[in-house]
Amino acid sequence: GELVPWDGPCKTVLSPVCVRGADGEAEQVEIGSYPVMGEVESDNALAAAVRAYDSGRGEWPTMTVAQRIACMQDFIKQMVAQREHIVTLIMWEIGKSHTDAAKEFDRTVTYMLQTIEALKELDNNNSRFVIAEGSIGQIRRTPLGVVLCMGPYNYPLNETFATLIPALLMGNAVVFKPPQYGTLLFHPLLEAFRTAFPKGVINTIYAPGAIVVPHLLASGKIDVLALIGSSKVADHLKKQHPKSNRLRAVLGLDAKNAAIVLPDADLELTVKECLLGALSFNGQRCTALKMLLVHRSIVDAFLARFAEELEKLKIGMPWEKGVNITPLPGMHRTQYMTAAIDDAKAHGARVVNEAQGGGVFYKTLFHPAVVYPVSEGMMLYREEQFGPIIPVAPFDDVQTALDYVTTSDHGQQVSIFGKDPVQIGKLVDPLVNQVCRVNLNCQCQRGPDVFPFAGRKDSAEGTLSVTDALRAFSIRSMVAAKQTEDSKA
Ligand code: G3H
Repeated sequence: GELVPWDGPCKTVLSPVCVRGADGEAEQVEIGSYPVMGEVESDNALAAAVRAYDSGRGEWPTMTVAQRIACMQDFIKQMVAQREHIVTLIMWEIGKSHTDAAKEFDRTVTYMLQTIEALKELDNNNSRFVIAEGSIGQIRRTPLGVVLCMGPYNYPLNETFATLIPALLMGNAVVFKPPQYGTLLFHPLLEAFRTAFPKGVINTIYAPGAIVVPHLLASGKIDVLALIGSSKVADHLKKQHPKSNRLRAVLGLDAKNAAIVLPDADLELTVKECLLGALSFNGQRCTALKMLLVHRSIVDAFLARFAEELEKLKIGMPWEKGVNITPLPGMHRTQYMTAAIDDAKAHGARVVNEAQGGGVFYKTLFHPAVVYPVSEGMMLYREEQFGPIIPVAPFDDVQTALDYVTTSDHGQQVSIFGKDPVQIGKLVDPLVNQVCRVNLNCQCQRGPDVFPFAGRKDSAEGTLSVTDALRAFSIRSMVAAKQTEDSKA
């Protein structure tokens, strides 16, 4: 809520992009720094949020919806004025192409405007009176309290705001920790947070999450945990809250979305969609296709066309026009990709496009690799690789493909490619009870943002979307009375 001068330690931010250093060796370029706060500063931020919410009596939770919307509109105006600055920071901090960083920014603004419209509608519907059995009541959507928001590095702005914006609009106070990669891009917004909203309503902390987030939760003063990130982290964090069974959580977590490619699939369309699905932003999307299950009768043709199309992708720096594959956030990521490929090879798989450079990396830049045949026991079979590797497994009986999805710990989405509506129909019904979105002849994805975004099993808790998120950060309360002759009139 306040901009606090800082003379403590700072963390240097390294871009995924490497430059040649003085000794001739490539090294990740330094692009800035941010303050490293500790438990004291985090406690202060939390105390400010608790004060601003004031058990629901604060200025923000008691404002009318129209007043809150006016504050948000002011914020959006200030944010839009910083567009190019923020887009450039996204590009440098996480290595997202400039085109995709701009799309992320614009999508976020659209999402905010859509959320405002959805709130107006929700408020209208909720302000109606309900009459039943001699009672009359007015239902209101009311806030939940203090929300701790954290987003992921792959959509640092968009997916942080996917929870932060609806949480704010519903009248909650927020403590917000930027992602580990994707911190600097929030600097230009701090002043807008401060001037657009009442003091203490939004509090940003720059701190190592592993230390301060469990500490914040252990205070028992966080009412909602909103995290888009890893399932393991979410499980750990929830346990830190003294009343963990009562802590509300809105979570978007790990996924291992599969594509099921049936024998009659349109090869060109399937290759195009699977390529996009597996490799947009280097495969660093929770919705990315992370396993391709292809019927054995067409697998050779599929692999050949896929590898051919893959080699047309442009690998390069995020500012280059038309670039598709850009650097990963750090060497640990290229090392993980290499380990996953080595493991698959040790278990009998090969890199289909090895001769074209598949699997080769230089520092943070990794040439996408198609790995085949991937089978049970390999890291790539079940682990979420979250990077530019495309595991392909053949199947003979469609039941095998179905079993892969139903026995997974994840349950976000699946794609089916095929032409026969009867065969597709037979798959859709069991699958839609296993995942939250079945995509027909197209890749998995979150958008359009008005669609519900959810997951089963270890993949999510709660539902996000323009309207669902407003519901997730509020509760229906009501004012009720016995009907009188006056109220009947
Ligand atoms: O990383 C997870 C995101 O929700 C993916 O969103 O499908 O729009 O790229 P997207």
